[in-house]
Amino acid sequence: MDPYKHTPSSAFNSSFFTTNSGTPVWNNNSSLTVGSRGPILLEDYHLIEKLAQFDRERIPERVVHARGASAKGYFEVTHDISNLTCADFLRAPGVQTPLIVRFSTVIHERGSPETLRDPRGFAVKFYTREGNFDLVGNNIPVFFVRDGIKFPDMIHALKPNPKTHVQEPWRIMDHFSHHPESCHMFTFLFDDHGIPLNYRHMEGFGVHTFTLVNRAGKCTYVKFHWKPTCGLKYLSKQEAVVVGGSNHSHATKDLYDSIAAGNYPEWKLFIQTMNPSNEEMFDFDPLDVTKTWPEEMFPLQPVGRMVLNKNIDNFFAENEQLAFCPALIVPGVYYTDDKMLQTRIFSYADTQRHRLGPNYLMLPANAPKCAHHNNHHEGFMNFMHRDEEVNYFPSRFDAVRHAEQVPIPSRPVSGRREKVMLEKENNFAQPGVRYRSWPADRQERFIENWVDALSDSRVTHEIRSVWISYWSQCDKSLGQRIAAQLQSKSNM
Ligand code: HEM
Repeated sequence: MDPYKHTPSSAFNSSFFTTNSGTPVWNNNSSLTVGSRGPILLEDYHLIEKLAQFDRERIPERVVHARGASAKGYFEVTHDISNLTCADFLRAPGVQTPLIVRFSTVIHERGSPETLRDPRGFAVKFYTREGNFDLVGNNIPVFFVRDGIKFPDMIHALKPNPKTHVQEPWRIMDHFSHHPESCHMFTFLFDDHGIPLNYRHMEGFGVHTFTLVNRAGKCTYVKFHWKPTCGLKYLSKQEAVVVGGSNHSHATKDLYDSIAAGNYPEWKLFIQTMNPSNEEMFDFDPLDVTKTWPEEMFPLQPVGRMVLNKNIDNFFAENEQLAFCPALIVPGVYYTDDKMLQTRIFSYADTQRHRLGPNYLMLPANAPKCAHHNNHHEGFMNFMHRDEEVNYFPSRFDAVRHAEQVPIPSRPVSGRREKVMLEKENNFAQPGVRYRSWPADRQERFIENWVDALSDSRVTHEIRSVWISYWSQCDKSLGQRIAAQLQSKSNM
């Protein structure tokens, strides 16, 4: 063995304490002092190193989705879709791919309760033989807004007031009153769906429309859906107070305990597909992230199953340092022109370079499990040992070549430079359909949540009127019922 070879973790096996540089530590209880009562000497290197290391234990938390739980497992193809995609990990029934999943809440801090009304993140990293494929979705099939340029403002409105540090309904009601496209998302968030029982009993959605590309280059639009085999369950508003009051990490604990007990959570993966040549045939734009594709027109087709059968070994390494990114696709899967997806392609790697450093993809949880090679090198905290002398391309001394070209969408893209909304906004039809699909008691709980939010003392008459108008356009009786309940509340 080469004694100079860098082996960071395998040598972490001394039977006695050492400093980071390996010097034996003979006393980890008392600081080095002048006399028995001090003062302490700066030359106590171990003490200084210990404190300095501790002082830097926290890394920046994710700007959104700070609170989360992860687990490992595998994906298994159950149905052949190789006619739609040349993705290697989907090549045939029976093929298994290792993966890691992170479930999360969105708005509040790393230690916040898991019972709050909030979307839940549902991010899956498939370690495929052709690189990592990250399906970074949510438990709600649509999103608040359809253009990523609005994202930072909407997150500011949802986050705590910068002055009081409390999440305040008036800021949310105010902001989204400018965005009628958010109605559909609110029919999930202010519905029972807004507080899942835990992470095991919730659905996941890729949310965006992606493209599947087959070997011949044929493209198909696709939406991804994860369905839990144990069914969907929610907490009522009242139950959430009790559960969150007794354990603010109930969903993290439930996931861990369930896997530890051998009760492995499982989801089935379905897809909806659409021929891109038909994209103009509908009353909604299929690249609009505020819309679902009606299942009677685009039936769910089974593809595979995901089983989570292994807990993570270390929360920091496999949760805090985990980095998902919607830009990480594999041959056979491609983006679409969905404006929200396009902005996400930039944002994740950008924040991760800030949050984890430029070499974050070398961290074990983020690194591909397949062979990989390029000439990107060095930078802060680079811990990859590389022996080669040729770190440039092209070179007659380096046999590494380009990979075989994979098919990508070939449809020409053209147009004027514009900053405009999508033409087919159709903001109110789908939320109306969803509201009418509920039984009376579920409708009533939805209305109650709206009346509560709009009763915030800083919600103005104007903001209330805008929302009543939106909900009336979704469903006439819904707007009337919210207006009537607000009226009777203000008369009390
Ligand atoms: C996390 C930005 C839209 C799902 C994040 C993070 C950022 C971000 C900066 C933190 C990532 C990290 O620190 O590792 C954005 C932007 C969006 C957007 C700019 C719009 C332009 C969405 C949408 C979804 C989504 C539409 C759902 C489809 C998630 C999930 C995570 C996340 C699940 C957590 C990933 C994890 O568990 O580490 N987002 N996001 N985001 N986002 Fe988004």
